[in-house]
Amino acid sequence: MKEKTKENIYKAFIGEAKAYFRLLAYARKAEEEDVPQIALLFRAIADAERVHATRQLNLVKDLVVKDTDTNLELSFQREKSVSENIYPDFIKDAEDEGEAAAVLAFTHARDAESFHAKLYDRAIYQMIKKVVKAYQVCQVCGYVTDKKKPAKCPVCGAPEESFKTIGEE
Ligand SMILES: [Fe+2]
Ligand SMILES: [Fe+2]
Repeated sequence: MKEKTKENIYKAFIGEAKAYFRLLAYARKAEEEDVPQIALLFRAIADAERVHATRQLNLVKDLVVKDTDTNLELSFQREKSVSENIYPDFIKDAEDEGEAAAVLAFTHARDAESFHAKLYDRAIYQMIKKVVKAYQVCQVCGYVTDKKKPAKCPVCGAPEESFKTIGEE
């Protein structure tokens, strides 16, 4: 594929992916304001933007999606970089501006990301094993574990009920 088109498809993908989350937030707002038809409209169009994002990503997937070995390695590097560089800077700025909620959200994200990095790091060596086991994802902070649901999330302290299971238990 030619350069300019490839670049535009990637930009379009980012735009559609953001729109997906923004429209779901609009839908929740419309539900709060008790306008269910508008909430459904936002949900329907969010779903349509998801279709666009998926289709566009598919067109440039050679650019974005590599073999699983490489995807694991890249994901590990990204998690390391966000938890060691990006979030610490964001936390500092939020502290300087006295934005407590942002400090907490960024701190939870930083800590959760470093656990994500550990899971990727271990998975790189687990590739050869054929055992499939479920993961538990904290819906408050994004902490992930391949162990049982903890009674309390080690990152944010949320209770066991805050965990969602990905895979078969
Ligand atoms: Fe992560
Ligand atoms: Fe958590």
